[in-house]
Amino acid sequence: MNDTEIIAREAEEEASAAQDSRALYEVKMKFLGRAGKVTALLKSMKDVAAEERPAFGKKINALREKLEERFAALESVVKKRELESRLSEERLDVTMPGRHRKQGALHPVTRVKNQLVDLFAGMGFEVYEGPEIETEYYDFTALNTPADHPARDMQDTFYVTEGSDDNFLLRTQTSAGQIRVMENKKPPIKILSPGRVFRSDDDATHSPMFHQMEGLVVDKNITLCDLHGMLGEFARVMFSENTKTRLRPSYFPFTEPSVEVDVSCASCGGKGCSLCKGTGWIEVLGAGMVNRNVLKNCGIDPDEYSGFAFGMGIERIAMLKYGINNIKLLTENDVRFLEQFKD
Ligand code: DAH
Repeated sequence: MNDTEIIAREAEEEASAAQDSRALYEVKMKFLGRAGKVTALLKSMKDVAAEERPAFGKKINALREKLEERFAALESVVKKRELESRLSEERLDVTMPGRHRKQGALHPVTRVKNQLVDLFAGMGFEVYEGPEIETEYYDFTALNTPADHPARDMQDTFYVTEGSDDNFLLRTQTSAGQIRVMENKKPPIKILSPGRVFRSDDDATHSPMFHQMEGLVVDKNITLCDLHGMLGEFARVMFSENTKTRLRPSYFPFTEPSVEVDVSCASCGGKGCSLCKGTGWIEVLGAGMVNRNVLKNCGIDPDEYSGFAFGMGIERIAMLKYGINNIKLLTENDVRFLEQFKD
């Protein structure tokens, strides 16, 4: 019968020594668990003489209740202490300065490309992106470029495979996309084709990979005046409200007549400075009326339809717009340079 008192004392000693809720739980199991000491006492009832059993049972139950209460009380004390220590250890100091996150920005080339797409989309142009790996047919032959034209030379063009018309190359101009569009779509056509182009070129104003933006309009009664009017709007939006444009005769195999388009120099306002080499004008793009042969190559009747096309270097526009003097700055990705183009 003394067992209950011994057990009660033992339990009290061990429970009050338990430092955390885990240790306390272990002590609780040692006494009240299925293999615990109190449970063992209950099981031993069958060995007790029948007349003593009720009193014995009562005593054990009283012990169990007492221990359960005691453990519950200790548990709430230990849990409270643990919560308090966690709260003080994990406390946030809301007055500490936050971590600074750097805000990214669009690359100047992407920026200018987006501005151009916005501008021309507003005039009803649809965007078409052609493949970067082209055949010689699309990049040169269909564009009326003679077989012996120097642009086809290996010194200018990166060939993937070399030989006849169906050999692959990295496109040297987005003009190749004009053919793909005209082969698949009948006039009226009004497309804009931005993308990467590749040439074996490398100096302060040329890079082996750069971006172009091609424009093509084909419909009935399209004239050079339409081209000039539209490019005037382009120059005013991209550079400034009072930018003027002029067309100079030029030559491209795929246009007839061909023109080079100049804008008045934004740096000196047309008076002449080092940027425009004293001329007051800066060349920004090539353009012209689509050559009859090119229309024919795409199954469009040149007696019924006419069109104009233009192609500009996006890096060149970005360099003029932001006053950048070396094209390499646009591919080196030096953050100190790129950071300047946020707004
Ligand atoms: N493809 C020419 C180049 O890379 C630019 C160009 C000139 C495109 C005249 C045109 C055009 O569409 O009509 O230099």
